[in-house]
Amino acid sequence: MKKSPPKKIRIGIVGTGGMANAHALEFNKIPGVSIAAVCDIDPARAQEFSAKHTKGRATAFSDHRDMIARGDIDAISNVTPDALHAPISLDAISAGLPVFCEKPLATCHADAVKMVKAAHKAGVVNMVNFSYRNCPAIQLARDLAASGRLGDIVHIEASYLQSWLVSKHWGDWRTSPGWLWRLSTKHGSKGVLGDVGVHILDFASMPVGPIRAVNAKLKAFQNLKGRRQGNYTLDANDSAVLQVEFANGALGAIHTTRWATGKVNSLALAIHGTKGAVRIDLDKSADTLEACLGGDIELSNWKPLKAKPTRCTYRRFIDAIRTGTPGEPDFARGAEIQKALDACFTSNAKGAWVRV
Ligand SMILES: NC(=O)c1ccc[n+]([C@@H]2O[C@H](COP(=O)([O-])OP(=O)(O)OC[C@H]3O[C@@H](n4cnc5c(N)ncnc54)[C@H](O)[C@@H]3O)[C@@H](O)[C@H]2O)c1
Repeated sequence: MKKSPPKKIRIGIVGTGGMANAHALEFNKIPGVSIAAVCDIDPARAQEFSAKHTKGRATAFSDHRDMIARGDIDAISNVTPDALHAPISLDAISAGLPVFCEKPLATCHADAVKMVKAAHKAGVVNMVNFSYRNCPAIQLARDLAASGRLGDIVHIEASYLQSWLVSKHWGDWRTSPGWLWRLSTKHGSKGVLGDVGVHILDFASMPVGPIRAVNAKLKAFQNLKGRRQGNYTLDANDSAVLQVEFANGALGAIHTTRWATGKVNSLALAIHGTKGAVRIDLDKSADTLEACLGGDIELSNWKPLKAKPTRCTYRRFIDAIRTGTPGEPDFARGAEIQKALDACFTSNAKGAWVRV
């Protein structure tokens, strides 16, 4: 029997800055998916984006409400700065549209919960782009942990290290709004913790399980703290060191910074259990982890294990719409991570452990 073509899905992308390029490239690869509309408060940027990724076929808007009101898109991809994730996603949900939202889901747990409730009430597919789940190695780590091959998980080390405050690998943060909003709480940034800390919290707790308590120290280094750059007051944390207790009793050391001179974008995770350990270093490989299991423990012998390919978050979103089944990671997961994030801020303010 001839297979029927996949259901056509027209995506509207809101926010056409740096990360939106990755969204467009990935959605453009999926059969039956088209980018039908794009929106940015900078109309020229939206036009350019449409020309670059859709040969100008996507209608360009400067207000997402107009884009939604036209009624000719089936879903939105929200790639705006963090403070706009909640309001724009809520507008799309009230119009009955599935939403693929960038991380962090919101700027606080209360807003994230509103998003979860609204999406459930409207019955729309909802996903948050914890994109490091696209690395097959983390899926294998989760399978190994779930199968019991690591025994009881006891100790976790995880880090996400960047250096864009000391290098120009990704351009000059002093002159680029795309970096400056990330340094300013007034612009809705939760600092490095909200920006890439959420990835590492998701990455670590996906195989290990929920986080029960945190003890966090957040810092905005003195050479930036309180400085002004145009409209931006630079006050968001740029380094974070967390002690973490997981619900299963395991302890973890998790840290992240924008000052990791010599590192560009390094994400690493090690999980140690009573019967084995795994480690992932994305500078080395996204699809192979190293494992120390069984007899290898006595020799400290680590062997590479290659993971099966995994569907990326963009495809999961489209599949969820087509099949009517929930896509992972969903808003509820985004809200769970947001809760841990809020607890880190409370812990930092109190200088004490805080339950999540
Ligand atoms: N999942 C990942 O791996 C990953 C990687 C990078 C960025 N991100 C996330 O993607 C989001 C965007 O980051 P970016 O690096 O592209 O930032 P960016 O500043 O380069 O782009 C944001 C764009 O949104 C536009 N914008 C602002 N307000 C708007 C509004 N009301 N309506 C429409 N457009 C609006 C800006 O003009 C800009 O073009 C952030 O939330 C960030 O955390 C995720």
